[in-house]
Amino acid sequence: MRRSVFIGCGSYLPERVVTNSELAASVDTSDEWIVERTGIRERHIAASGEKTSDLAIAAARSALTVAAIEANEIDLIIVATATPDETFPATATTVQSGLGMTRGAAFDVQAVCSGFIYALSIADNFIRAGSADTVLVVGAETFSRILDWKDRTTCVLFGDGAGAVVLRAAEAKGEITDRGIHSTCIHSDGRMHDALYVDGGPSSTQTTGFLRMNGREVFRHAVVNLSAVITEALNGLGLTPTDLDWLVPHQANQRILEATAKRLGFPLSKVVSTIARHANTSAASVPLALAEAVGDGRIKQGQLVLMEAMGGGFTWGSCVARW
Ligand code: UT7
Repeated sequence: MRRSVFIGCGSYLPERVVTNSELAASVDTSDEWIVERTGIRERHIAASGEKTSDLAIAAARSALTVAAIEANEIDLIIVATATPDETFPATATTVQSGLGMTRGAAFDVQAVCSGFIYALSIADNFIRAGSADTVLVVGAETFSRILDWKDRTTCVLFGDGAGAVVLRAAEAKGEITDRGIHSTCIHSDGRMHDALYVDGGPSSTQTTGFLRMNGREVFRHAVVNLSAVITEALNGLGLTPTDLDWLVPHQANQRILEATAKRLGFPLSKVVSTIARHANTSAASVPLALAEAVGDGRIKQGQLVLMEAMGGGFTWGSCVARW
């Protein structure tokens, strides 16, 4: 059987770091409140004129370097983003030209914070069906552009960044010891639109709009939905939490990470957390955390990793892979 094996990952964070204390100078908040309620200490913010595609291209280049492949070996680019450069064309096509890639196909996926997991699921299906051999999957966001910087309930929570992985088809035995993706589970529930959305868009207001969120409602659903989709993935593969080496969760709130791990009986020492330094980077948060834990040697080849995310829509999902 064909499996999608991770052959490289990379990331990019804008240079400018904004601390909680800096935010407290312009909005009624405090470092203590933000750290206690979210675990966030600082976030990276894109420079003026620095676009989502710029972040995505930088992350993609670092993933291609690790994978030791040329851009023209890629068959498909999928960019997960809720903050595209423009309404169209897809940011993925800008990434394609930015990488100097003149063949293949490129498109965007919009599932907000779950976008990277959705994109992995699509990429894996393309590879397993034999429609692509090498796929670049990027999660890239400039949420700073859709934040209402006067709204303390949202503006302190998000940051900008990008992460990327390269997947390549490999023949496998069909056993749990195989390297590559073993399962992806994706879900959505459109009834939850009003809990997390952007109050603008080309077809409604002809403006970009700002992010609006009922944080408590999202929090409540996040722990339940994430625990459910992790259990679904493990049950589907006949695994238990003790079989996992690492949990790489979407980074929305340290308390969500901890509550989800606790529900599963999973030790926090095996949960990759970057929330303190990156804040919530939406579709970029899982590949950013992945790139960090692979880069510093925590995630090693042969280890079993579960990635998960939940976001606006609601959308949520998981991916189990042997690195
Ligand atoms: O990635 C997409 C998914 N997003 C998420 O997963 C986010 C999920 N939600 C959360 O992480 C949390 O609900 C928040 C961090 C957004 C909020 O934490 P909370 O513990 O649920 O606080 P709350 O919304 O219940 O607000 C508590 C109080 C309120 O004041 P009152 O009404 O009790 O007087 C807020 O007005 O904290 C106030 N507050 C703040 N105070 C200082 C809200 N934001 C701030 C702030 N600084 N930045």
